[in-house]
Amino acid sequence: MPDLVVAGNWKMNTTVSEAAALAAAVRDGAAAAPGVENVELVLCPPFVSLAAVSDAVKGSAVKVGAQNMHFQESGAFTGEVSPGMLRGLCDYVILGHSERRQLFGETDESVNNKVKAAQAAGLKPILCVGESLEQREQGKASDVISGQVRAGLEGVNDASGLIVAYEPVWAIGTGQAATPETAAEIMGGAIFETLRSLFSAAADNVPLLYGGSMNGGNAGEFAAQDCIHGGLVGGAALHADQFLQVAAAVAAAKV
Ligand code: 13P
Repeated sequence: MPDLVVAGNWKMNTTVSEAAALAAAVRDGAAAAPGVENVELVLCPPFVSLAAVSDAVKGSAVKVGAQNMHFQESGAFTGEVSPGMLRGLCDYVILGHSERRQLFGETDESVNNKVKAAQAAGLKPILCVGESLEQREQGKASDVISGQVRAGLEGVNDASGLIVAYEPVWAIGTGQAATPETAAEIMGGAIFETLRSLFSAAADNVPLLYGGSMNGGNAGEFAAQDCIHGGLVGGAALHADQFLQVAAAVAAAKV
């Protein structure tokens, strides 16, 4: 079984001091929460708080991730952050989140460039994929998802360190999570099969995370599915206790 991973995507929330306090609360809570030691916890604050969060979790098992990055190493790209700048500040980077795709014009091609750049820099990419409600209603969910996985990973030869997050757009921030069965159909189907076709047996070690209105109450049902190895949590990750409840539920479901 792949490693269990619960990542918190804080999105555009928390000041630097709020981020440091939230990270410290997760760090302290994780040390006291039974079973959570079996789950890799990843905190993904805004760029400006990466250093503070990294400091707050130093010496603990809690890891840090960025929410995005540019694929070039340096240059005239005002407002952007490069892989090399993230190295040392974090281990993971979320790439291709649907908000980036929808609101900031990211394409499969740019996401693919970022995945390759992340791996080259020694960062672990959390590649996000997800279909819109319209695509789902048109019966295109599986095709859209396999297309996003295939395109996002074009030219990627090494699955080690890779994580794929399935976040149906209609479930993000809506309080309307997918059912575990719906998520498992896509994750164990389109996502896993595409990874298998790309990486053969190495695909078996890629953690697959569900994201979209995940919380302490529903995380266990998702993790009870064999093909779901954790979550990418938005709103609930802004509260240390709720984030740790998700991690505890994932750990308990996989015992
Ligand atoms: P919510 O958990 O707030 O629905 O957000 C999910 C998400 O987009 C995580 O990346």
